[in-house]
Amino acid sequence: MNFKNKVVVVTGAASGIGLACCREFAGRDASVAIIDLDQKTGKRAAQELREIAGQVEFFGIDVSKRAQVQAGVARIVKKYGGIDVLINNAGIQRYASATTCSEKDWDLVLSVNLKSAFLMSKYVIPEMIKRGGGAIVITGSVQSVAAVGNSVHYVVSKHGLLGLTRSLALDYARHNIRANCVLPGAIDTPMLRWAVSLGPDPAGALAACDRMHLRGTMGRPEEVARVIAFLASDLASFMTGAAVAVDGGMLIPAGGLASQEQGLPAAKP
Ligand SMILES: NC(=O)c1ccc[n+]([C@@H]2O[C@H](COP(=O)([O-])OP(=O)(O)OC[C@H]3O[C@@H](n4cnc5c(N)ncnc54)[C@H](O)[C@@H]3O)[C@@H](O)[C@H]2O)c1
Repeated sequence: MNFKNKVVVVTGAASGIGLACCREFAGRDASVAIIDLDQKTGKRAAQELREIAGQVEFFGIDVSKRAQVQAGVARIVKKYGGIDVLINNAGIQRYASATTCSEKDWDLVLSVNLKSAFLMSKYVIPEMIKRGGGAIVITGSVQSVAAVGNSVHYVVSKHGLLGLTRSLALDYARHNIRANCVLPGAIDTPMLRWAVSLGPDPAGALAACDRMHLRGTMGRPEEVARVIAFLASDLASFMTGAAVAVDGGMLIPAGGLASQEQGLPAAKP
């Protein structure tokens, strides 16, 4: 897997899974455009990555805003000469059910998580077509195919991203553009740490996140980033429109892991 002479754009790239993606691509000789809302951490990430990659720039863009995305993509193309790979990764987490979710929060989560990936694709795909093709990877979630309680807007946004992935794969295959979606389980990032801090027992919530996975621990950002890099590479040339679980087997046990412990004969080694 080598991305020499490839321009890779990552959104939500200053932290967590996005930052791990930037490290992965930079370590494989890509030119990397870091997009994030957060100027301070974005600039710090760019500085760190310049140690390992030739060309790394930070672009302060709110990916939920059409005008900023359009102007930002134009700036990236001017600086790098084109775009080959797009990682639509920016996202936020909020908690509410249909009756408790405010219209403002619904619009915010759907804009940041889902509309952003549409907007980025809208302006990046024409640039990929000029280069003769490209690859798009979208960070969905296990919540693209299953639901977690009290997370209606997040679940809907992540289901929508899988639909977007499949639409992009279908519409742009003739332009040699592939689109795939990763479905991470619980990954130890600042977003997850923030989420567990909301409850009365953060340590207990973290331990529960570990137990959700077959190996007994949650994922690390670089474990997702490696799969994203593979999907973006030519090694995945026959993969498009796929939903790839990177979830430590979280989605495997019907009824959840606890259901496997209830009254069933113990598995023989
Ligand atoms: N951490 C998990 O357990 C987990 C699991 C499944 C899916 N995901 C998804 O992975 C993606 C990355 O999550 P993470 O855990 O690394 O989170 P994170 O909070 O560590 O990083 C997200 C980054 O996105 C940026 N961002 C937020 N809104 C933005 C906007 N409007 N424009 C540009 N940048 C913006 C933030 O500033 C931040 O740097 C998200 O889409 C998330 O839904 C995370």
